[in-house]
Amino acid sequence: MIATVPVVQTRDLVKRYETGGETVVALDHIDFSVAAGEFVSIVGPSGSGKTTLLNMLGLLDGPTEGEIRLEGEDVTDLSSRERTAARKRTIGFVFQHFFLLPTLTAVENVEVPRLFDDDPETTARAERLLERVGLGDRLRHKPSELSGGQKQRVAIARSLINEPRLLLADEPTGNLDRETGKQILEEFARIKREDDVAIVAVTHDPLVNEYTDRTVELVDGVTS
Ligand SMILES: Nc1ncnc2c1ncn2[C@@H]1O[C@H](COP(=O)(O)OP(=O)(O)OP(=O)(O)O)[C@@H](O)[C@H]1O
Ligand SMILES: [Mg+2]
Repeated sequence: MIATVPVVQTRDLVKRYETGGETVVALDHIDFSVAAGEFVSIVGPSGSGKTTLLNMLGLLDGPTEGEIRLEGEDVTDLSSRERTAARKRTIGFVFQHFFLLPTLTAVENVEVPRLFDDDPETTARAERLLERVGLGDRLRHKPSELSGGQKQRVAIARSLINEPRLLLADEPTGNLDRETGKQILEEFARIKREDDVAIVAVTHDPLVNEYTDRTVELVDGVTS
């Protein structure tokens, strides 16, 4: 068997926050990894470190101790500029509150991560991605003219614009009813299968675990 390099991997990851003379250990020596084509959920009580871990995996914030590797490359000590470049190359994000820009159409929202790239193919690619998530007939609609599930589909299409290897989602079904949540999860499962991306979703929604390959539980910054 060929040993494949995980898409993202942490070793002995520690994150401490210092606030007002007090120290909070948000992550306490976490070893975590996800392979290509794997869908992993992170569950745990409020304050257990889920969002902190997702922020570390997404290179949005650096750890206090330990190591992070992205596709085998040590990204622990990158400068903020290098981190941004690595993030853009490799990682897509989907959030609970969609974060679409209200004045832009669906297609324009999907193009946002490529705004400064000046690539004439971007619009066509954004349209294809929207078609893929079932929004081919909503390309010119503004977010206010879309349902919650449709907005989340736009956000998913946007997360795919740079062909990420890793998709990170924080409560992706948190604002959706059960049926719409299911459709979004089926979309993730399909993306995982077709594009072989690694997906990590933080969630309180038990429904998510019906779609994942593995669940990691965090309690007080420790995995069990
Ligand atoms: N920027 C910060 N500064 C100081 N402490 C922080 C910061 N961000 C998070 N924390 C603390 O770190 C711990 C983990 O927070 P985190 O947001 O990762 O939890 P969570 O598991 O995502 O919780 P929830 O389910 O409520 O979203 C908490 O005790 C929190 O108060
Ligand atoms: Mg959180």
